[in-house]
Amino acid sequence: MNIALLGFGVVGRGVYDILANMDHIQVKKVICLEDIALPDAQVCHDIRDILDDPAIDTVVEAMGGLHPAYEFVRACMEAGKNVVTSNKALVCTFYDQLIPLASEKGILFRCTAAVGGGIGWLSELERSRRGQRLTQVGGIMNGTCNYILYAMTQLGLGYEEALKQAQSLGYAEAKPATDVEGIDTWHKVILSSNIAFGVSMDPASVPVAGISRICAGDVAAFTARGYTCKLISTAACRDGAYTAYVQPTLVPAGQPEAAVPSNYNLVSFQGEYSGRMSFFGQGAGRYPTAYNVVQDLLDLTAGKGFYSPYGPKVEAVNQNKMRYYVRGARDGWLQSHAAENWGDAVVTEPVAVDEMHRWLKDQDGAFIAAIAEDLL
Ligand SMILES: NC(=O)c1ccc[n+]([C@@H]2O[C@H](COP(=O)([O-])OP(=O)(O)OC[C@H]3O[C@@H](n4cnc5c(N)ncnc54)[C@H](OP(=O)(O)O)[C@@H]3O)[C@@H](O)[C@H]2O)c1
Repeated sequence: MNIALLGFGVVGRGVYDILANMDHIQVKKVICLEDIALPDAQVCHDIRDILDDPAIDTVVEAMGGLHPAYEFVRACMEAGKNVVTSNKALVCTFYDQLIPLASEKGILFRCTAAVGGGIGWLSELERSRRGQRLTQVGGIMNGTCNYILYAMTQLGLGYEEALKQAQSLGYAEAKPATDVEGIDTWHKVILSSNIAFGVSMDPASVPVAGISRICAGDVAAFTARGYTCKLISTAACRDGAYTAYVQPTLVPAGQPEAAVPSNYNLVSFQGEYSGRMSFFGQGAGRYPTAYNVVQDLLDLTAGKGFYSPYGPKVEAVNQNKMRYYVRGARDGWLQSHAAENWGDAVVTEPVAVDEMHRWLKDQDGAFIAAIAEDLL
């Protein structure tokens, strides 16, 4: 297998290093912005150098972002090259374009590192959906948020301090919005649902709330009542109806999610025969992520393409009700649903998830956390 790497940052460089020890997969060309020199691969700056090279059969996209990643990946597929990517934003946003195109062109497309980094989560979903129906997927899918919440709970830090610490440890980016507003988790749960349930879920129907408004007082209130706050994604398929959402969630002590430390991930599925299966590990980082990109390349050599057939377009309808902790807002709607007070905050009676997220959109500064009696 002769490959081209698109991008030579955290992930691309890691893939290059791991492949240096594998004779049967060779990195022929690397596309990056900087002028670097590599001993055994040609560095270029124009995608046509890859498209026009018949010796390159497979492309690894590790540039990130939507553009020009989408145009590059699409052009490579049109040119008959197999694609492996770690870019969840790309696959989630252009699912309806990329997955049918792979079938049409007869090329192999995989993206295991896009969800769970080093955890073989998507490849496990691929196996587990054979011979049983999967009814639920979700969990802790973002190491940055888990680190911040862990540092606030275990080390007693405020939000800004915990974020700074995550940045200094390399767990959070200088511009952390995609992680802390839950967008990264949102991409991941949509992609997981598409594969687990064999559908194409409309991203606009999946509500998301992040952790950026949490404060030390919230964490103290949760700890006093035996809860740990985690950013949890949930998606389910029951009787042909779909639910999916991302939100801060109060997990009771004793649930595995409550114990997930530092920047780790814990993702789980529920299957009709297997029951709950959970996977714990590093959801990011150069070598854990690159390891899964290389696993995808090895799967390609065995002829494995995408994890599930491309399925029908569906919408999530989240009418299931949960109790919510709400701080930083008071209005008639909230008062009419209030069941108790936790200090300055209100805890609601059970409210439909969609209704709560619609209300939250108009509330600047409010923080919500769902109270989970039970997760999967
Ligand atoms: N980092 C992780 O732990 C991790 C884990 C799972 C998934 N991912 C995903 O993997 C992807 C890559 O992440 P990363 O952390 O490796 O990003 P990164 O360190 O920023 O690397 C991106 C690389 O792509 C290059 N690049 C960007 N735009 C380009 C363009 N137009 N033409 C040529 N080269 C271009 C960059 O060049 P410059 O450096 O010169 O800008 C850089 O070398 C993202 O989609 C990310 O979500 C990352």
